[in-house]
Amino acid sequence: MRRVVCLLGSPRKSGNSAQMAGALCTSAASAGAQVTTFTLNALAYRGCQGCLACKGKAEACVLKDGLTPVLEAVRTCDVLVLATPVYFGEVTAQLKGFIDRCYSYLTPDYAFNKEKRTRLAPGKTLCFVIAQGHPREDLFTDIFPRYAYFFNWLGFNHSRLLRACKVYHLGDALKRAEVLDEARALGRELAAGSAAEAATE
Ligand SMILES: Cc1cc2nc3c(=O)[nH]c(=O)nc-3n(C[C@H](O)[C@H](O)[C@H](O)COP(=O)(O)O)c2cc1C
Repeated sequence: MRRVVCLLGSPRKSGNSAQMAGALCTSAASAGAQVTTFTLNALAYRGCQGCLACKGKAEACVLKDGLTPVLEAVRTCDVLVLATPVYFGEVTAQLKGFIDRCYSYLTPDYAFNKEKRTRLAPGKTLCFVIAQGHPREDLFTDIFPRYAYFFNWLGFNHSRLLRACKVYHLGDALKRAEVLDEARALGRELAAGSAAEAATE
């Protein structure tokens, strides 16, 4: 059974990115995946403190806070779904706080030894879910490839994107049948595993 961990990065609990991720995860669960969802905005945590304890003796992030169980769940997942609105051309601060804490997954040698960059098992899939208010599809396209690049270092060797432009108000994504269909199809694909991986090989 494929383990899917979904992180909701928007402060809006039923916002567009959460609805898109919800359609994806419900479909993945129906197809047999085990799905665990965390709402980041409901958790109390700090960003990476740059203490570099994880580049010394500590094998995991030494901060103990709301992100501790999230980092633990991501460690053993097969698929990580990161759902976020575009905020000033970026992911939300809530999601960026999590991403920076993923530095703890990198080995002390990561900069010099490409073969041993990550403490995580390789072969995982990263799935970004992005809701953007602006209708122009050529804007903010840098977000997904930038994070896919770094998550590849962490062992997320496959990456997929579900993106909706021109969704601004609460409920906008729910009116977009083509987006929800794509979300459900992606959920089925990620639950099945091999097809998703083959598609990005
Ligand atoms: C603080 C803030 C910054 C935003 N910045 C952008 C932006 O840079 N580009 C854009 O297209 N939309 C931007 N938006 C609009 C959101 O991306 C859009 O409303 C999105 O659908 C919200 O997703 P959510 O419902 O999952 O929270 C911004 C909204 C807020 C509140």
